[in-house]
Amino acid sequence: MFVGEVVEINEKNHLEMQGWDLVEVASQHGTPLYVYNEEYMRRKCRQYLETMQSGYNGEGRIIFAGKAFLTLAMCRLVQEEGLCLDVASGGEIYTALQAGFPREKIYFHGNNKTPAEIDMALENRVGNIVVDNLMELDYLERAAGEKGLRVDILLRVKPGVTGDTHKYIQTGQVDSKFGLGVADGQAMTAVKNAMDSSSLRLKGLHCHIGSQIKESSAHQLAAGVLMDLMQEINSLHGVQLEELNLGGGLGIRHTSGDAPVIIEDYVSSVAETVYLGCQERSLDLPRLSLEPGRSIAGEAGITLYTVGNIKDIPQTRTYAAVDGGMMDNLRPALYNAEYEAMLANRAGEEKNSVVTVAGKACESGDILIRDCRLPYPRRGDTMAVFSTGAYHYSMYSWYNRVPRPGVVFVRKDGVEEVARRATYEEMVSHELIPPHMKTRSCS
Ligand SMILES: Cc1ncc(COP(=O)(O)O)c(C=O)c1O
Repeated sequence: MFVGEVVEINEKNHLEMQGWDLVEVASQHGTPLYVYNEEYMRRKCRQYLETMQSGYNGEGRIIFAGKAFLTLAMCRLVQEEGLCLDVASGGEIYTALQAGFPREKIYFHGNNKTPAEIDMALENRVGNIVVDNLMELDYLERAAGEKGLRVDILLRVKPGVTGDTHKYIQTGQVDSKFGLGVADGQAMTAVKNAMDSSSLRLKGLHCHIGSQIKESSAHQLAAGVLMDLMQEINSLHGVQLEELNLGGGLGIRHTSGDAPVIIEDYVSSVAETVYLGCQERSLDLPRLSLEPGRSIAGEAGITLYTVGNIKDIPQTRTYAAVDGGMMDNLRPALYNAEYEAMLANRAGEEKNSVVTVAGKACESGDILIRDCRLPYPRRGDTMAVFSTGAYHYSMYSWYNRVPRPGVVFVRKDGVEEVARRATYEEMVSHELIPPHMKTRSCS
């Protein structure tokens, strides 16, 4: 399935991307390596934006969720494609600003923005702050007032709707750490407090019900809850909110068994729900925003590894260990996520064995793929694991002090490094030996 869309098989029986042989890319840049099909990502951005522009009668925005995959180059790509950017920490704000991303197109999220992060957002005139809770609203109100600012905000609301996905990535339910409850009245309290403030301008409502959701019905339900709230705000306060942000969450394919997810169908059905829902409730059409992350970057990325030791356990299983693992792909250990792989240097060969792909971390749970069909692997093979473009590089950990892989973007006219592989020197560069230890003899 990924062959023909993200990669192809060339005359050497190697995987290639945009005409570039991935075995050569691996030997030039080293492994593990995150490899992105740049054109594929741009196409996903356009599918979102064009469907929003043609399928929604009001103004529409597509906001890329930086948590899925953020680098300086990714900020540029998103900007070039006309998207806005969702950031969720001071580090993500810093990255966006370093890349020169237009600040008015940045949305700042998070359930526990620190005072320093809020101050950073205010000082740098980040355009939109998505307020998560009453305490944050209170701090923001005071901080903006002290700086003499009037800040555009959205309120993150828990619509009480859950998407059909793993419980770790459901976020819209009542018992969630994210957002203001509707049923418990916190959302309406926040609306009132925001409207009473001269340093805040309440632009709209936001929700995000979860991630890796394969169809639009849960988003449509959530849109209904938010529109009801907008209607209530209108009748209580006489104000029509100008923006309705339904978050991200559209899923992707990780294996051939997964049904394709059609971005156009999702966007147009959500747009229609909002259009009809606003008509029913006599609301002006708000600006409709969606915040996809995974569905833009996920399928575009693959990870290349080098196969190391092969372990045959008679009558039990064959393990093929690779030179990365849970440090560069946490998802199998975190939520049993499934993946598919091919040997990039033997892509045309018969898949005559069933292999468990193990990482190199000191954890038995560090298994990338169970029972993967492959040609019987050899030491030195280049393995490509598909659909690793979202929540992989961004979730990287330094466990076992394995340096962070590099990242390359592949286009027809070149393979560009967008993040260098970390080095051992970098790894220790921020660490210190306290003076009292320096004087001791280690013998
Ligand atoms: C507020 C918010 N918006 C957007 C997203 C992006 O979700 P996805 O990558 O599933 O599209 C997330 C993901 O957690 C989120 O928390």
